[in-house]
Amino acid sequence: MDYLEFFDLKEDPFRLTPDPLYFYPSESHNEALSTLTYMVEQKEGFFLTVGEPGTGKTTLLNTFLNTKGWKDRAGIALVLTPRLSPEEFLLTVLEDLNVKIKNTNKNEIIRAFRDFLIENSLLGRRIIIIVDEAQNLPDETLEELRLLSNLETEKEKLLQIVLIGQPELGKRLLTEKLRQLNQRITLRVILNPLTIRETSDYINYRLIKAGKGSLIFEDAAKKLIHSSSEGIPRLINLISSRAMMAAYLDTSKNIKKRHILYAIRHLSEGYAKKEYRAISIRRSVLVFMLFCTIGFAAAVSYKDNLFHKLQPVEKKEAAGREAEQMIKQKTTGMITAESIGLKLQPSPNAEDIMSATKGMVLHVTGEFTETTGKKWYKIRLSSDGREYWITNDAVALSP
Ligand SMILES: Nc1ncnc2c1ncn2[C@@H]1O[C@H](COP(=O)(O)OP(=O)(O)O)[C@@H](O)[C@H]1O
Ligand SMILES: [Mg+2]
Repeated sequence: MDYLEFFDLKEDPFRLTPDPLYFYPSESHNEALSTLTYMVEQKEGFFLTVGEPGTGKTTLLNTFLNTKGWKDRAGIALVLTPRLSPEEFLLTVLEDLNVKIKNTNKNEIIRAFRDFLIENSLLGRRIIIIVDEAQNLPDETLEELRLLSNLETEKEKLLQIVLIGQPELGKRLLTEKLRQLNQRITLRVILNPLTIRETSDYINYRLIKAGKGSLIFEDAAKKLIHSSSEGIPRLINLISSRAMMAAYLDTSKNIKKRHILYAIRHLSEGYAKKEYRAISIRRSVLVFMLFCTIGFAAAVSYKDNLFHKLQPVEKKEAAGREAEQMIKQKTTGMITAESIGLKLQPSPNAEDIMSATKGMVLHVTGEFTETTGKKWYKIRLSSDGREYWITNDAVALSP
């Protein structure tokens, strides 16, 4: 049985795609969507929305384009890779709007664009330029956009411009260089992270969209998701999805706090190793991750030191043990004890190097039976890839 079948779901509820079908109208997302719609309907010139990475800017944009039907009702130039010089930017916009030009001389481009805008205005058709990740627009290109926004008749604006970006864009617009552009912006909305109540509704909403299913996120689990994600939808998705995997391995249809803890630990290590530099996440999440990394590094170096100290003992004992131990195994399992010590040797007298908690996934690489009959597993934790010993009664092996 696979993961979705186990929870009776049609599809993965926490996919990381800006899918309008999953759009949850939180207070701030709702405000941004209606402001954007109002702006286009009223032919306001300039709209700006800013939000931290993962707060749902691209999802909002896709929802606007798909569900409000503007994709068909207006001419839209959608710029998704805005690291463009003014000329490159203009050419991209013209190509998107299917405007033919005779040559790429700047005056010719502007003239052709103006003619195109006037033609459309006479037909009552709106022309909108939308830039996602607009914080990447160079200053000169932003200035070019301001000049374009000057194109107007006595009665109305010929062009509407929507800038969507990270908060640094808002800050840049306050600088002297971009002051004039800043004054042009008629409507602005900040996309806020979800509140605790919204986080809970958001999770339920996505579950319903994915087929309802038979799983339940317990209240304590949702609270922890909110505090660790700070209400950022992308992080909520990442954590929820990992937690569901942990619950599945645990054959639990209730997503509990321990599954969330497992997910956070897993994700923070992953981020710390790979995406740490690539993804800019809210400060406290970073601090949390750094904390995990430092904690993890400290545990590792502590373990390494201890490992050196224990080497001679291990060597002495090893010869006698070799015959009994290392029945080579290759199977996966999961910790079933609430909390259990991991050791460097299969002996009750060996010190605990780390503690593992319920739900952690591991690979069994060997086993050892004491003369008393007590059994130990040699395991490799998925989360750090290192090997430890653990008593067999704290582990459930995959069937
Ligand atoms: N209002 C929302 N409703 C549903 N899902 C959302 C919402 N906001 C964000 N998400 C989800 O969060 C993730 C990140 O959203 P995205 O729009 O890519 O953020 P941004 O563009 O701000 O970085 C996506 O998986 C998306 O499905
Ligand atoms: Mg985006």
